[in-house]
Amino acid sequence: MIRPLLPLLSLFLLCSAWVQSPPPPSDEPPNPSASMKLLWATPVVEYDNLFLPSELSDIKAAVLSLHAAFLAQHAGDRPKEKAGRSKLAHTDADRDQVNEEFFEYQRSHPLSDAVLHRVWSRFMHACERFASELSIPLEVQKPFYGPQWCWASVQANTTFHDVHTHPMSAFAGTLYLAVPADAGALSLADPRGPMPPFQYGYRVPPREGTLTLFPATVPHSVLPTPGGEPRVSISCNYPGNWKHYVANSAVLEERGWEEEGGRAFENYGYAQNEKGEMVRMEL
Ligand SMILES: *[C@@H]1O[C@H](CO)[C@@H](O)[C@H](O)[C@H]1NC(C)=O
Repeated sequence: MIRPLLPLLSLFLLCSAWVQSPPPPSDEPPNPSASMKLLWATPVVEYDNLFLPSELSDIKAAVLSLHAAFLAQHAGDRPKEKAGRSKLAHTDADRDQVNEEFFEYQRSHPLSDAVLHRVWSRFMHACERFASELSIPLEVQKPFYGPQWCWASVQANTTFHDVHTHPMSAFAGTLYLAVPADAGALSLADPRGPMPPFQYGYRVPPREGTLTLFPATVPHSVLPTPGGEPRVSISCNYPGNWKHYVANSAVLEERGWEEEGGRAFENYGYAQNEKGEMVRMEL
């Protein structure tokens, strides 16, 4: 029974040596106070009701008609070889490539300005509010506007989007326009990872009409949508560098507390009893 107590005893001796030296100037117990900074947090926002239902259905119709034109042009759905990309880098059945192809297609066949302007203006509103809630200045760091900052995705038949970040961007956002029951979730990787214990992702289930916003530096992916019914979304990037928002001085939240003073600290610890249970022990 002595042996399990030995580490505790040495901890106690260590702690009492630490607490007692140097000796307090008086016998008055201290008044503890603390300040806490939440560092390197990853704010993720789900924004609802930015669009009227009629706007959402108009935007969805525009995306589906663009996608139908894309499918017609890509009959057979065979991903095109890209210059400099090895044939070994993907197979014909690779449904991440199909997603990339639709993205590439929109460089020459963007959504109409009417659709892009509407989505872009609400995205801007959401980014501004997001930044102001975080008490960080939202600087326009680059001139921007155009389909490379705002594009549509249609995913069905196991289409997915492999893990990536959005370089040259500060914020990334996705507006969900159609979400079938089997729609793949947005999977955000823990930016402290991937080594254990930070290897886990956080999955954001898409919801129709919701705009999800997060720092563009967070590695993320879109999980497969297995069925034939399409998952429809529009994604936007806020150009800039997330580093401007987090480097050096940026603390996303700060709190502190003062404790009621004048009370002696209790001396206690925990030890294991004969049944193996942890029991509180007065020291
Ligand atoms: C899914 O596959 C079916 C059958 O090949 C096809 O008719 C449909 O257009 C596909 N859906 C999408 C969104 O590509």
